[in-house]
Amino acid sequence: MNIYADRANYYDLLFQYICTDYHDEVVKSLFPIIRDFNNIVEIGVGTGLIAERVLKLKPNCNFTGIDISKQMLDLAKKRLGNKIKLVESIQK
Ligand SMILES: C[S@@+](CC[C@H](N)C(=O)[O-])C[C@H]1O[C@@H](n2cnc3c(N)ncnc32)[C@H](O)[C@@H]1O
Repeated sequence: MNIYADRANYYDLLFQYICTDYHDEVVKSLFPIIRDFNNIVEIGVGTGLIAERVLKLKPNCNFTGIDISKQMLDLAKKRLGNKIKLVESIQK
């Protein structure tokens, strides 16, 4: 069972308006690693909060986000439109 299935809106609001610095800090620590790559895959992309920040820093990169939660991916799609490729993976 995916605990994010019925919590997608809550997750997105929490990190957008309350834990506002968290994703900035994650991307700050990731950036030295991903800076030189153009193809980036995030497994567990969620609602796209990391992807959104990476795309601001690397607007021309090819970003693919994978997640098992359709609800999370729907919010990522709303946030990022066609700027990234989103893939729903299957949980066995
Ligand atoms: C804590 S959230 C993080 C989301 C995003 N990376 C962020 O930082 O905002 C974890 C995400 O991983 C996804 N997830 C959990 N297990 C997964 C798996 N086996 N394959 C793909 N996604 C998975 C969940 O559905 C959820 O969206």
